[in-house]
Amino acid sequence: MKAIICTKYGPPEVLQHNEVEKPIPKDNEVLVKIHATAVTASDCVIRGFKMPGNPSFPKKQIMELMMRLFLGISKPRNPIIGLVFSGVVESAGKDINQFKKGNRVYGFTGISRGTYAEFKCVSAKEVAQGELAIIPDNISHNEAAAVVYGGVLAIHFMKDGDIQSGKKVLIYGASGAIGTVALQLSKHLGAEVTAICSSSNIALVKSLGADKVIDYTKDDSINQLECYDFILDAVGENKSSKLKIQCKKAIGENGKYVSVDDGFLKIQPHYLVKLNELIEAGHVKAVIDRDYPLEEIVEAHKYVDKGHKKGNVVITV
Ligand SMILES: NC(=O)c1ccc[n+]([C@@H]2O[C@H](COP(=O)([O-])OP(=O)(O)OC[C@H]3O[C@@H](n4cnc5c(N)ncnc54)[C@H](OP(=O)(O)O)[C@@H]3O)[C@@H](O)[C@H]2O)c1
Repeated sequence: MKAIICTKYGPPEVLQHNEVEKPIPKDNEVLVKIHATAVTASDCVIRGFKMPGNPSFPKKQIMELMMRLFLGISKPRNPIIGLVFSGVVESAGKDINQFKKGNRVYGFTGISRGTYAEFKCVSAKEVAQGELAIIPDNISHNEAAAVVYGGVLAIHFMKDGDIQSGKKVLIYGASGAIGTVALQLSKHLGAEVTAICSSSNIALVKSLGADKVIDYTKDDSINQLECYDFILDAVGENKSSKLKIQCKKAIGENGKYVSVDDGFLKIQPHYLVKLNELIEAGHVKAVIDRDYPLEEIVEAHKYVDKGHKKGNVVITV
């Protein structure tokens, strides 16, 4: 099968096209023919071996060691990277009863990765962990591959936000993969939402329902901050501004500030169930900036590395 191999940690050019053995599913595995994947910020972190923030000695060295032990010493342990996918079930082993041949499915892999390829096996354990679901009928493969990363992460990081009608929510970085879902989810829950983005994304965040928008590139942006019940830093430690530093002081009494770099995502079985409900009801829509064929994955990584994609970058396999 066609696959993209990450030959070592480094710039986008370390990704190379290759022909590899098609995986043979075991009795407890689902074999998925992948139709689309996405280049996520996490894929670029893994490929480029980048760590969040700018830690100093000795924290940097400790984090680097931990990352190498977790991901692989000089290259990713699974050389086929890629976290998210949509596709069709090619076959389901005899121990799998939730899925059958022909089902349209999408997923967010945990440590197995391997979605920059034509086929991927998903184990019964991964199914039980909530990493695979049927795609809602009202979205395409490209939309499913796009929305699943930000969808799962937004649900995870907002779960303790107590977001409801009458609450004021601030989304810092509302134009990214996580931010675009976090904004739509907050609106669906009835909150008044202020979205922070740059000038070029104001129209996008308004179209997703933002009540107020603050442009982080403008000098007077700090004066526009109010007092919020829930603030989500949706872009993480590597992206900041003077405004972001001030946001931490704009949290109200009993309010909560959450960063997408607070701890690690552990997918829960109900996350994709919840995401499906939101998509089926039309409360969450995929935002696709660009799509590339698998053959142009290096170009796609170069684009995502710039840090300014709008929502998601999809790869058609
Ligand atoms: N904890 C975990 O387990 C976990 C797992 C996965 C990801 N993460 C975190 O989530 C992050 C990825 O989020 P994502 O995929 O949603 O990001 P993303 O889609 O890559 O973010 C792109 C958006 O960021 C905006 N942006 C860039 N610089 C900004 C700044 N200084 N201030 C505000 N917005 C800025 C850009 O808008 P403009 O062009 O307008 O600037 C662009 O629309 C990762 O980098 C990581 O930190 C955490």
